[in-house]
Amino acid sequence: MADTLNQNTNIVASNKKRSSGSDECDHHDDSFFVSKKQSKSLVWEDPAAALANARHEFGEHGGVNMSIEASATFTVMEPETMRRMFAGELGPDRDFFIYSRHFNPTVLNLGRLMAALEGTEAAYCTASGMSAISSVMLQLCSSGGHVVASQTLYGGTHALLTHFLPRACNITTSFVDVRDLEIVKEAIVEGRTNVLYFESVSNPTLTVANIPELSRIAHEKGVTVVVDNTFAPMVLSPVKLGADVVVHSISKYISGAADIIAGAVCGPASLVNSMMDLHQGSLMLLGPTMNPKVAFELAERLPHLGLRMKEHCKRALEYASRMTKLGLKVIYPGLEDHPDHALIKSMANKDYGYGGILCVDMETEERANRLMNVLQNFTQFGFMAVSLGYYETLMSCSGSSTSSELNNEEKELAGISPGLVRMSIGYNGSLEQKWSQLDKALSKMQEKMPF
Ligand SMILES: Cc1ncc(COP(=O)(O)O)c(C=O)c1O
Repeated sequence: MADTLNQNTNIVASNKKRSSGSDECDHHDDSFFVSKKQSKSLVWEDPAAALANARHEFGEHGGVNMSIEASATFTVMEPETMRRMFAGELGPDRDFFIYSRHFNPTVLNLGRLMAALEGTEAAYCTASGMSAISSVMLQLCSSGGHVVASQTLYGGTHALLTHFLPRACNITTSFVDVRDLEIVKEAIVEGRTNVLYFESVSNPTLTVANIPELSRIAHEKGVTVVVDNTFAPMVLSPVKLGADVVVHSISKYISGAADIIAGAVCGPASLVNSMMDLHQGSLMLLGPTMNPKVAFELAERLPHLGLRMKEHCKRALEYASRMTKLGLKVIYPGLEDHPDHALIKSMANKDYGYGGILCVDMETEERANRLMNVLQNFTQFGFMAVSLGYYETLMSCSGSSTSSELNNEEKELAGISPGLVRMSIGYNGSLEQKWSQLDKALSKMQEKMPF
């Protein structure tokens, strides 16, 4: 029975390495992410199925949840072991840990789950989404390096590429409209461009990237494709569609409770290992380490990410359809008249929907603010707050908040209207209860001026 369980559900017992009094352990499981193999040779079909197939760690005393390895440093039984660990002969693939800025078992466990979610060989979790993005760029580009990036990106990423990387590291970026594949092709300089960077679904304009085609173009010129999948976990799986690396702001949907800032880099084992290198690794040397207590909490939330995404997406589609019928200018890739609807449909994993964010263009900032004020302070539909993926609806006027790093010309190029309200649709309460609050607010707005 135990063997059957082990085979079918990929369950392993906790580490008993220390009990023998020797550092050489018999248990050599090469499913740690530093090895090239996935946890089992099961075919990746769907993110939820992959998560269910991922190895399940029990607690030290047989608890259904793993124990938290809340240690900054780790002991060895024999002095020689320390030398061998630093020489790279013994590592986390054989359950040898040095120090938690390098590897920590609880953080590594979350990394394994993130790798399963995105269907990558490996993943490593970081203290924020921005540290995941900056570390990956610094690993893939050297001084003099070049990036081609979408002109529609989260404001912080845009600022990193526009201001910080050129000043601090002499890494420059050409921003392009990634919907125009010819322009992307022209912007890539073979032999000089290191990375093609874009968001699977862009923040805040909700344009959808043609991941297979963009990856093909980049690969023809030897360029690594990095995709920020923060807006569409479960919905899209960029590496399965041809990209090389996925970055996440875990602070959003994956956390789901708006209480944690965290990130992840999911990609080939060779890349993740290089980022952890003692001499040249951006994660190891810049040190945006995740706390194991945080990693534990996040690992407990991944099993219900799929259920949450389905409900976010279902409600976003329903509200987007109803708001469109009321005459509002709604942007949502799940609507048939969205220019990227056919594209997202062709790429999306089955049964998750088209994302939990919708935008409504109120044309002016004044009208956007008035709508958000009514929605929060009169009908209690949601909160005026940045971020997304929370169980409550969160609303912000992107041009003056999360995209304020872009100047007016950049905002125009990115398609961010001054009155664009981004709504991350929550799932608390019933769909109809929340719709009545939204509907009431919209009626109140119309009393002053029709849409
Ligand atoms: C698409 C996207 N990527 C990355 C980030 C940065 O993530 P974090 O806030 O976790 O550093 C954000 C934050 O808003 C985002 O929206």
